[in-house]
Amino acid sequence: MSDAKTFFLDEEEIPFEEGQTIIQAALSAGKYIPHLCYHPEFKPHGSCKLCTVRIDSRTVTTEDGQSVKIPGRAAASCTTPAQAGQHVESEVPEIQDLRRTLIQMLLVEGNHYCPSCEKSGKCLLQGLAYDLGVMDPHFPQYFSKREVDASHPDVLLDFNRCILCELCVRASAEVDKKNVFAISGRGHTKHLICNSESGELGDTNLAATDKAANVCPVGVILHKRHGFEVPYGQRRFDKAPISDNPAQYAPVKEQV
Ligand code: SF4
Ligand code: FES
Repeated sequence: MSDAKTFFLDEEEIPFEEGQTIIQAALSAGKYIPHLCYHPEFKPHGSCKLCTVRIDSRTVTTEDGQSVKIPGRAAASCTTPAQAGQHVESEVPEIQDLRRTLIQMLLVEGNHYCPSCEKSGKCLLQGLAYDLGVMDPHFPQYFSKREVDASHPDVLLDFNRCILCELCVRASAEVDKKNVFAISGRGHTKHLICNSESGELGDTNLAATDKAANVCPVGVILHKRHGFEVPYGQRRFDKAPISDNPAQYAPVKEQV
């Protein structure tokens, strides 16, 4: 490891290539950092803040001989470049607590009825909640009023669960070159829209094979006539925690 540039993640030395972000280097090295809006094939978005880490905390000795930790700066690891020698904290109680709070806020903001959701067991939000030990929603449920769009012949939109990660927006723009999805509104009115005159998915040129139709990490973009092909209990995160295989989220080489 001596010739490679390295930084430290939770005291473990991680090699990186010039231009890699902290999360890209960590995932390539087999170290999982929780995330929702990061996707190895798209430009980073930096909105969910699940991947927050602390950089370069230091310990000072006070006049009376006490050791005091000065927290380093908090940063989204998906948008922060890796730098040689930096010390990054991820799996520390303070950061894990922040992540649990973010997950709880997302869970109460939408209508996430996991037992009746087709995505259960393969949902990143649910998988992260399990992995981080989220035991309750903590905050009052918002019970947002959200519609279902069943206008497309092959794809259903259940807006109840949208976490506004913009993965579908980026997939449609960057990969499919169609701009089928966009985000509209601000604050609590922020929501996903379809770019058609009627606003309905059925009036867009989305195909079921598009990247945008297959990238939603939760149960918003669902394929009609496909359900429960893998039963509950046998799905990806039923079998292994989301953090078990960091390499599956690592950047593809040519896009680093
Ligand atoms: S529909 Fe899915 S992929 Fe698109 S913004 Fe909402 S949660 Fe993200
Ligand atoms: S994964 Fe970094 S902010 Fe969402």
